[in-house]
This record gives sequence, structure tokens and C-alpha cells, in this order.
Amino acid sequence: MAKLSVIGTGYLGLTHAACMASLGHDVIAFDIDEAKIETLKTGKVPFHEPGLDPIVEQEIASGRLTFTTSWEDVAAQADVHFICVGTPQSAYSEAADMSQVRGAVQSLAPLLTRPSLVVGKSTVPVGTAQSIADILVAESPAGADTHLVWNPEFLREGFAVEDTLHPDRIVLGVSHDVDVDTLKDVYATPLAEGTPLIVSDYPTAELVKVAANSFLATKISFINAFADLCDVTGANVTTLADAIGFDTRIGRRFLNAGIGFGGGCLPKDIRALQARAAELGVADQFEFLRAADHINLSRRSKVVELAKAALGGSLDGAKIAVLGAAFKPDSDDIRDSPALSIAGALHENGAHVTVHDPEALHSVRLRYPHLGTADTVNDVLADADIVLHLTEWKEYREIDPQAVKALVKNAIIIDGRNVLDLETWASAGWAITYLGKPGS
Ligand code: UGA
Repeated sequence: MAKLSVIGTGYLGLTHAACMASLGHDVIAFDIDEAKIETLKTGKVPFHEPGLDPIVEQEIASGRLTFTTSWEDVAAQADVHFICVGTPQSAYSEAADMSQVRGAVQSLAPLLTRPSLVVGKSTVPVGTAQSIADILVAESPAGADTHLVWNPEFLREGFAVEDTLHPDRIVLGVSHDVDVDTLKDVYATPLAEGTPLIVSDYPTAELVKVAANSFLATKISFINAFADLCDVTGANVTTLADAIGFDTRIGRRFLNAGIGFGGGCLPKDIRALQARAAELGVADQFEFLRAADHINLSRRSKVVELAKAALGGSLDGAKIAVLGAAFKPDSDDIRDSPALSIAGALHENGAHVTVHDPEALHSVRLRYPHLGTADTVNDVLADADIVLHLTEWKEYREIDPQAVKALVKNAIIIDGRNVLDLETWASAGWAITYLGKPGS
């Protein structure tokens, strides 16, 4: 069985490395960040991902999972190299910043002296795979014996282990002369479980990923547009979503209206796709993604306006308690978090904002030092003029509104995720506002 390397130990790479080791493969995981690799060698996972810590610990102990910062180790020990580095939005445009992918390929290629397989998992603009395949052939000593397969990743943070071990589908993009037997061996366990395998050309495989994320983003913005229509007509967006969701052609998932999508994937992927579509001369066809982005960002300003209105027209000096900082529950990822974007805007409008989150406070303190933080729900609520529920952690649904009412100055809450029970909060004497459905 071929030994695997995984290049990049973020949410995607580390999960992939640990899960591949748990399937019985020998895996060497690489990162340029020496401090991170030292932490990983001790078995500590530097981010919150349910179920990942025990697998990392177990696979280090089994000897199947090792870590390095040396490209030479990667090239010497592995024959299959998974590229799992980030492709964030560029600082200068809406396009993807491809420097990490380029850097990885340029570092690895000159060291590939024997036949090897490079597997791209990062989300990239269509056309990237072919250019990487060309670089690998031109710059690796093994030349035409260095092959590339494009194998996009569909894992969701919070469910990354489950999604990696039991994926919905496996997509392998190949060029005409590359066979997929090695990767069929790597993924033998999920394939034996009946996971659908789709083998395509490179551009189709690249597009599967951006098409999936664009669809999901559009679906969320679709329901959020209806949430605004519900607000002005007195309709209920949750009931609406339930009712249309029963149509299996539509489906109920990703129809939860609220403050919208964030994170390291959907926002930057829809922007990168628009940028790439424009380069390829089909910009007009992707205008709908601009609308989806606009609807999504408008959710954030809407909450700021709602808070302002609830406080009598001014945020200046208001004490605001924010429940949730991560871009979604069961993650400590705060990249493009709608909750923190709202918290930041409230702060800029003169409010004193204090944030609670079960897992993400360390990142908040580091990157948003101007925001206050509280370690417990009771502390964040203390003396608040208004409470904003912005990331739907389970523990917030378990708050007893009756018990915490005494802690706040005003029993006013905006539920930006539309999940707190109206009856329970209203009967405890709270004024509760939702996005797209009647409150109290
Ligand atoms: C997303 C995709 O769901 C994954 O399939 C994909 O592999 C991943 O991006 C990626 O490209 O790596 P993720 O960013 O982990 O996964 O998060 P999602 O579960 O998609 O949620 C994204 C955002 O949408 C969150 O802020 C969430 O709160 C929001 N959301 C989700 C809604 O506002 N409403 C919904 O109904 C669902």
C-alpha cells in the first residue's frame, strides 16, 4: 500500500490525514508552520472539530500518523501527495489567493524523483488542475511519471470526520492517461460502503466543488430573501421553509433563514467563481451570485438596525450581549463569521459589546481585541441592554429564559438564527425578534 502525504494541516488537511491513517494508511502530514507541527506531534489538535482529537491521538500512537516540516521527508517517504492547503480570498480582489497551492507544488515538484501521484483537494478556480499537471511534468525529475488527480473535498466543519470517513460522493478528475486504481485503494473502505464514485476530466471535478458551494450559498440567500418578504407581510419563514422543503426536488436542508452564511468557504468560493467566470467571458450568467452575496451581507446590517431600533434609535453606550462568535456551531472557526461581523459593526456604532462562545473565545481575543468577552452565559448577559443570539450552539437553546431574566437590564433578545422557542421566551416575559417570523 502506498504511503500518503498530506500537505497542509488545517481543518481539511489534518482531518484528511488523521482519517486516512484511521483507515489503515501510513500518513506523513506536512505544514510550513513549525509551532503547529510541534503541537500536533504531542497529539493536540489546534482547533475544535468534534471527534478529531481521539483519532489524531490514536493514530499517532499506532505510528501510522507522523508530522513534519520537511519537504524532503514528504518526498522521500510518500508516493501519494494530497494538497490540502488553503485558497482564501485574495487581499486585492474577489479571486482566490493561489499562493499556497503554487508554493506547495513548486516546493514538491523538484523533489519527486520517482513515479508519484499528486492529488489536489483544495478548492481552486477551474483550469488550475491542468496548469499544475503541466508544472509537475515540467519540474519534477520523474517528469511524465508524476501524475495529478483532482479530488475535491466536501467536508463540513463540525462534521469533518464523518464527512471524510463516509463521504456523500468521491469525485476524481483525471487527464486521459491517468488511472485511478491507486486512489480506489486509498478510498477502498468508503467505496466498499457504496459511496458513489464519479470519474471525470479535470475541469468538471474542479467545477463540482464550486457548483456545490454556490448552490448551497444561493439556497441560503433564497430563503433569506423570503425572510424579508415574510417580515413585511407577517408571514413565517420557518413554516414556509418546512412547507416547500417537503417537495423532495427542493429539500428542507440549507433553508434555515437568519443572519446568513459565513466561514472560510461559501463566501470566498462564490466570489472566486464570479472572478473566474468573468475571466472566462461568462460573467453575466453568474450575476445571481452577486445577488446571493448581497442578500447575505444585508442580513448583518439588518440585525444592527433591529438592535438600534429596539434600543430607541441609538447604539451609543448600549451594553450588548452577543451569544456566539463562531461562523456556525460545533466549530471554533471565526473566518468571515456573521456573528463577529455584527458584533464589530455594533462596536463601531458606539455599543459596548461582550461576546460569549463555547469554543471560539481564544480566537476572538486574538483577532477582535476591541470586543469584550465573557467565559460564561451568565457573565455575558449581566446588565445587558439587549441580547443577540447569533450562532446556534445547543447550549443557547437550553438557556432558561425565566432564570436569566434577572441578570439582564432589558429582557430583549434578537434571535438571528430563528431557533429559540417563541412560547418559552415570550411567556418568560422576553421581547423576542426573529428574522422572517413574528416574535413577541
Ligand atoms: C461548506 C459546505 O457545506 C461543504 O460541503 C464544503 O466542503 C465546505 O464549505 C468547503 O468548501 O470546504 P462549511 O463552510 O463547513 O461547509 O459550513 P456550512 O455547513 O456549509 O455552513 C456555512 C454557513 O451557512 C454557516 O455560517 C451556517 O450558519 C450558514 N447556514 C447554513 C445558514 O445560514 N442556513 C442554513 O440553512 C445552513
